[in-house]
Amino acid sequence: MVLPTTIAVDGPAGSGKSSISFALAQRLGYLFVDTGAFYRAITLLALEQSISLDDPLRLTALAENADLDLSGPLLDDGRQYTILAGQRDITPLLSSTEVEACVSVISAVAGVRQALLDLQRSIGARGRVIMAGRDIGTVVLPDADLKLYLDASLDQRASRRYQQRLTSGQAANLDEIRAGLNNRDTIDSGRDVAPLLRAPDAIYLDTSDLSLDEAVDAAYRIVCDWNGAHDAV
Ligand code: DC
Repeated sequence: MVLPTTIAVDGPAGSGKSSISFALAQRLGYLFVDTGAFYRAITLLALEQSISLDDPLRLTALAENADLDLSGPLLDDGRQYTILAGQRDITPLLSSTEVEACVSVISAVAGVRQALLDLQRSIGARGRVIMAGRDIGTVVLPDADLKLYLDASLDQRASRRYQQRLTSGQAANLDEIRAGLNNRDTIDSGRDVAPLLRAPDAIYLDTSDLSLDEAVDAAYRIVCDWNGAHDAV
């Protein structure tokens, strides 16, 4: 069976992008690349170095010199990937509430996006990747073999984030999570540079009423159907 070798997955926060892409990557034996992790990494480093969110030049310089890399999980602690900044494993720090609160602002900085573009494209060029984000099908890998756009209602996305936080032992407030997601949707979709958009050739999958397993099965069927479409050409 011929499979798509680059799969782009876009969608809003909490649409199931990471969980579905990770499970799909495991099923296919592909590398899962969560590009949100790169923006989170720059955000973490900016917070650690007390760089102002209003200083695009310093944020851009930080992104240009961050020396980030992504690989498979490496550690068996439930993670989906490992992010290194230089030699330092920063993976566990990327989902903190401080990072969550600032990442949309930092990911709207044009210079930061440009600095991360080459890194994402070079990982995509390795092939056998599922790359998830906001602008993968539109900007990062416009020639991806297969593009998926995942979506879910705001309530459903908030409830998933809430459960994730509780499961990982973190404090959680459903109303705050819903408001935070809504705010990030507004910033991610409204920014000038590479906003969250559905590529015209992306296949739309609404996961609101699907369990994780059902959503992964649906995505897997789409991957297999690509083979049929490809063969028919
Ligand atoms: O998918 P996530 O929640 O980890 O993404 C974190 C932030 O990074 C989110 O606010 C949008 C931004 N992001 C982006 O702008 N472009 C991407 N390709 C991936 C994430």
